[in-house]
Amino acid sequence: MKKITVHTSTPYDVIIERGSLDRSGEYISSVTKSKKAVVVTDDIVGPLYADRLVSSLEKSGISASVFVFPNGEQSKNLTVLSNIFDFLCMKNITRSDFLIALGGGVVGDITGFAAACFLRGIDFVQIPTTLLAQIDSSVGGKTAVDIKGGKNLVGAFKQPALVICDSDTLKTLTPQILADGMGEAIKYGMIKNSELFSLIENHCLKNIDEVMDELVYTCIDIKREVVEHDEFDKGERMILNFGHTIGHAIEGWHGYNNFTHGMGVATGMCIMTKKFCSKELSDRLVKCVENYNLPTSTDIPMSELLPFCSKDKKRESGNISYIVCPETGRAEIRKATVKEFEELMEG
Ligand SMILES: NC(=O)c1ccc[n+]([C@@H]2O[C@H](COP(=O)([O-])OP(=O)(O)OC[C@H]3O[C@@H](n4cnc5c(N)ncnc54)[C@H](O)[C@@H]3O)[C@@H](O)[C@H]2O)c1
Repeated sequence: MKKITVHTSTPYDVIIERGSLDRSGEYISSVTKSKKAVVVTDDIVGPLYADRLVSSLEKSGISASVFVFPNGEQSKNLTVLSNIFDFLCMKNITRSDFLIALGGGVVGDITGFAAACFLRGIDFVQIPTTLLAQIDSSVGGKTAVDIKGGKNLVGAFKQPALVICDSDTLKTLTPQILADGMGEAIKYGMIKNSELFSLIENHCLKNIDEVMDELVYTCIDIKREVVEHDEFDKGERMILNFGHTIGHAIEGWHGYNNFTHGMGVATGMCIMTKKFCSKELSDRLVKCVENYNLPTSTDIPMSELLPFCSKDKKRESGNISYIVCPETGRAEIRKATVKEFEELMEG
């Protein structure tokens, strides 16, 4: 078992261990005295893993009810959030009880936000079951739901009490959803750790499972370091957005349909590296991204993407921050006016 402690305003542990889902009752008992929990999950993950979680909790004397909602981003909304609150009331959940998010980033984000709001805040535990959720969304305390005005626009910072990552659960992911998470893993290698990048470029989608625990551990440790320095996203945390400005623009151009976040990040990283870095680095990144069947370029004209970049919520009053990695393992935050950024990207 590997453990990482995240020293944020409320510190917590991240456990990385194959098979830990079946020991989660034991691990959770060490962070709470409560004997009552609600597991929030979706209709794909629930049937696969909820029974095992509930039985592990019962062995540790914790009784749990399960709330299930339809899988997918379209459920990360205020209606499902409200249904979760109603369920918590029906189950007489009190301030000393807790929630468990069992699923991908959608489950984690909405459960975390429910935990931040219900009774002005109760504890929650993350059991992420996608690669993206294990290496990114379950750590760092950002929780949110989507509203008509945009993705993740209503949310809160709420750190979990514990995160349990069982990489065996990743075996039931479709290749596309696994690849999506690899987009973020490649990003960590590019921004902070050249050995991680080498590990990833020397594997591919078919054999990455062989080194999954090492990969998950290293990515989470990078996220830990960045989040500890900038818990509330005021500066350094921005480097986690490498590839995201263009990536979000491509996702937005596609109307968030048929083009996933990982595909956007992968394309965004390749476009930024081709534009601002050496041909050698750009070729290396493209080859690595191709190992995971992710796209490396887009046919959409830059003039059609740029309006989406200026809507990005990371933008501040006419200025935009963008990330460039001049070599693997090193990121630079660069700032420009929206106009300068557009000129650079179109040039
Ligand atoms: N809070 C943060 O810091 C942060 C960071 C990055 C992304 N996010 C959010 O995360 C969300 C995306 O997360 P995601 O990519 O995990 O998507 P997701 O939660 O929608 O999961 C993708 C699909 O995989 C299925 N699934 C999950 N685990 C599975 C398993 N083990 N086996 C089989 N199927 C499984 C789900 O049912 C779903 O259909 C977005 O809403 C995004 O905004 C949040």
